[in-house]
Amino acid sequence: MYYDLMTSETSATKELDLADPSLWDEGVPWDAFEYMQQMDGLHFSPQKNAPGEGGFWSVVRFEDIFEISRNFETFSSERRGIFLLDDVGAPLDIQRLQMISMDPPRHSRLKKIVGSAFTPARIAQHEDAIRQIVNGVLDSVADRDEFDLVAEVARPVPARVIGSMLGTPPEDDEKLVHWTNVFTAFEDPEIRKQWDDTQEVLEEIIEYCGHQMELRRQNPTDDLVSALMNAEVDGERLDDLEIATFFILLMAAGNDSTRATYSGIMKTLLEQPEIKNRLIEDPALIPAAVEEGLRMNPAFAFMGRAAARDVEYKGSQIKEGDRVLLWYLASNRDPARFENPHVFDLDRHDIDQHQAFGGKGRHFCLGAALARLELKIWVEETLRRMPDLELNGDCPRVRALFLNQYSSIPVKRA
Ligand code: HEM
Repeated sequence: MYYDLMTSETSATKELDLADPSLWDEGVPWDAFEYMQQMDGLHFSPQKNAPGEGGFWSVVRFEDIFEISRNFETFSSERRGIFLLDDVGAPLDIQRLQMISMDPPRHSRLKKIVGSAFTPARIAQHEDAIRQIVNGVLDSVADRDEFDLVAEVARPVPARVIGSMLGTPPEDDEKLVHWTNVFTAFEDPEIRKQWDDTQEVLEEIIEYCGHQMELRRQNPTDDLVSALMNAEVDGERLDDLEIATFFILLMAAGNDSTRATYSGIMKTLLEQPEIKNRLIEDPALIPAAVEEGLRMNPAFAFMGRAAARDVEYKGSQIKEGDRVLLWYLASNRDPARFENPHVFDLDRHDIDQHQAFGGKGRHFCLGAALARLELKIWVEETLRRMPDLELNGDCPRVRALFLNQYSSIPVKRA
């Protein structure tokens, strides 16, 4: 499908509904995003496949996402959560127990609880442990001629990194990844067989967390689960449900994200061996490759907000309660901000000034320093140990609008 950028309102663009899965059959509809970036105001998608939701506005320009992310009074995270639907199996009142779906002042207080564990200095202390985890996983495929980079490398590494910080045992990693995927990839029928699964999974996670807490009551630890148990917000401890939902947020945010970004970076390097070879010759460029990989492949295609009041934004009349999606996928390739936006360019000026971690508002990613360190070590070790890796087939995408991820990247050793 092609959107004629020269004509202002063709019938095709008027109808353009970003929530229509067929628009994504061939991959990200870049031409549609580019069209929206050039039109005045924000584009409205009617979301015909979910009529009860009332459609959504799309924010696709870098400067607009920057502005709206910082205006939490008007564009609330709490009102309708961050997803495309109000009820993603976990209803809004459950979603609102997580700080990502809260507004200040409660959001600010909760962020402080775990904030100190995620500062760049604290994260740097995990460097050796992360390198060991990465190498353990690479050992498991080192002797294989062919394997799937997503399932066998991208999936287990972040699961163990965040699992070790939470203090959960390695044998639970796979189960926890599956559980969190049920929430974030709720649109993909392969991952979530039935809508009802979410309720079951939620109950299982709450029970699992309850067990983890009981273990810590008997034997206190210094991991994140203990930090959540001991934390006080407004003079009160978090209750079990609040701890369980916080746990889900850390698992989901820590897993989906780095898995998707590592996969995206590696796919680019395998498709463009000249970049891969440059990194092998000069590993000091790897942090730049990580930033450019984050820009080109933001793990979360968007985060949602909802208007807290009627507001006119650049000529668009947004009504109180309307959903507004911040499309990082588009803003990270906004031609008004990035020259040759579709080119992976290691020499880009201000290479870390993208929006993969959000638009620098209050919800800016808590795990950015962890993700950057993890990805750097991971790409370093992969290229050091498997410089001869090549693509070995097509790379299908996860069928969920929220997640910008590949479900498989078949690779072989040359
Ligand atoms: C490449 C990896 C990652 C990407 C692309 C990413 C992206 C994001 C984005 C876009 C947001 C929302 C920003 C906003 O609404 O303004 C966010 C929030 C968050 N991220 Fe990350 N993230 C990554 C890794 C991680 C990791 C490893 C963790 C670790 C636990 C993490 C934890 C969180 C949390 C807890 C929030 C909510 C923060 C808040 O509401 O204040 N993320 N992330």
